[in-house]
Formats: sequence, structure tokens, C-alpha cells
Amino acid sequence: VIEARRDPNRSFYERPAAVREWAAKRELEPPERSLLALLGPVLPGLRMLDIGVGAGRTTAHFAPRVREYTGVDYSRPLIAACQARFGGRPGWTFRHGDARSMPFLPDAGFDLVLFSVNGLDCLDHRGRLAALAEVARVCRPEGLFFFSSHNLDAVRLALSVRRLARDLRATRAPGRFALSLGRRVPPQLLARLANPPAGSLVARDWAWISQGWPPGSACGTYHAKPGEVDRQVRAAGFTLERVFLPSGAEVGYRESLGRAQDLWLNYLCRRAAAAPGRA
Ligand SMILES: C[S@@+](CC[C@H](N)C(=O)[O-])C[C@H]1O[C@@H](n2cnc3c(N)ncnc32)[C@H](O)[C@@H]1O
Repeated sequence: VIEARRDPNRSFYERPAAVREWAAKRELEPPERSLLALLGPVLPGLRMLDIGVGAGRTTAHFAPRVREYTGVDYSRPLIAACQARFGGRPGWTFRHGDARSMPFLPDAGFDLVLFSVNGLDCLDHRGRLAALAEVARVCRPEGLFFFSSHNLDAVRLALSVRRLARDLRATRAPGRFALSLGRRVPPQLLARLANPPAGSLVARDWAWISQGWPPGSACGTYHAKPGEVDRQVRAAGFTLERVFLPSGAEVGYRESLGRAQDLWLNYLCRRAAAAPGRA
């Protein structure tokens, strides 16, 4: 309980409203569809780990196609939702656990690890590096790791008043305009107040962006530049192979390093081969 109180993101995902919200989501995101298409014929041979599985949105699409499927989440109510929906199917396992330390999972036990919809960004810098090291431990040599992460290069856009004004102008019906105004403006103002100016944030390699006021009281998310993501995954023992936009389209790796203005990017990484003489 103490740990949950200290971690506002985790508490956020333990609320009944979070369970309702994530249980209502059923479709794959376009980059996840690109991953499915890319893996195609090899899927039936894979042992898959789905970290931050939520209420099982991705389970429904991946688990029936792979050899073995394990879902992990640090929110007990979300894992309970997965168990209620999918429990009892042979080869499908759900575990309550934290990506930073998963001692219940074997070394090199998975061919494919997924951490979707910026789940990794719930963690602070130290936690993120611990989670990457833990993913590297459980992923077999040459196994794959697919995850999404907020793009710090796009933070100016995320906090931009001009973008907010454009979005609001796009809602033409007066009722919808008022609704959008109520929903979008207070969080946008709070986010601006809770964070250093966007100009100083974009000068950094990574930053913690608080979503509310006072800073630290509500959810925050880690944002990183693609070059920093590349460095982090390399330090953990992966090679960054492909980058996907939210549309599902692949973006040239060089182009993603500094030019992509999408709010989040999806990264496909491969674990290094085993050192000669090692299993
Ligand atoms: C944005 S939600 C996405 C849920 C699900 N992957 C989906 O796309 O439907 C992020 C999920 O990551 C989980 N999560 C965040 N940090 C985690 C951690 N350190 N260990 C395990 N799960 C974590 C949250 O509880 C939440 O379910």
C-alpha cells in the first residue's frame, strides 16, 4: 500500500475507472498491427511476454497466435480483469508483477516481449533502466522487444497552445466545442504550469513530463528523444532495428532521430546474440 501511494502512476492504473477504460479498448493500435504482419508466419513458434498488459487488449490478438503467452501488470485490478476474461486457457498465463523486477520469470524464457502504449513511460529514469535490464534478462538471445515511448522531440507540440486552439476550432458544433473546452483546457494549462517551458525540455535527451498540478501529484510520463532511446536499449543489450509511427508506417531510422514530430514512436529491438560458448 505504501509503495502504491508513492507511485501515482501505479495508483492511477489501480482505479476502477482505469479498469473500465482499458477493458473497453479492443482494437490493436496500427503499429501493433504492423508488428503482427511483420512476424506473420513465425508467430506460432513464439513464447511471448506482454508487459503492462492492462485489461488484455493485446491478449485477444496475440495470445491465440503464439505458442505460449504470459501477461504481466503491476495493477492488481487490471491483471484480475485479464484473469476474469481469459483465465484457464492452456498456455495463457497472467501474473501480477512489476517490470522493474520479475523474479518469477526465467532468464531467456521469451522470444518476443511487448510493452505497449507507452507503459514503459510510467517509470522514472531509474525504473526505466531497471525495466530495460529486466526485459533483456528474460528475452532470449536474438529475441525481439517491441515497445512505444513518448517522443521528447514532439513535446513542444504536445504543450502547444496553437495546437490546442486548432483542435478546438475543429470541433464545430457548439455543444462539442464546450465539452472539448472543458476536457482539454484545464489539463493543458495544468501541464504547462507543472513543467518547465517546452523550449528547455526539448534541449534535453529525456524528461519527466508531469500531467498535473502540483508536480508529482498526478500521472507523469517519461519522454525521450529517439537517439536517447537508441542509447538506452543498446546499453541494455539490444539493437534498435525499426521505428514505427502511430500510423503504423515504418519511419527511416535516421529520420526518426530528431525529425519525427509524432507524440509517440514504436521501437522494435533485437537482443544481442549469445556470446560464443554460452547457451
Ligand atoms: C497505457 S496502459 C496500456 C495497457 C495495455 N498494454 C493496452 O495497451 O491495452 C499502461 C499499462 O502498463 C502498466 N504498467 C506501467 N508500469 C508498469 C510496470 N512497471 N510493471 C508492470 N506494468 C506496468 C499499467 O498498469 C497499465 O496497465
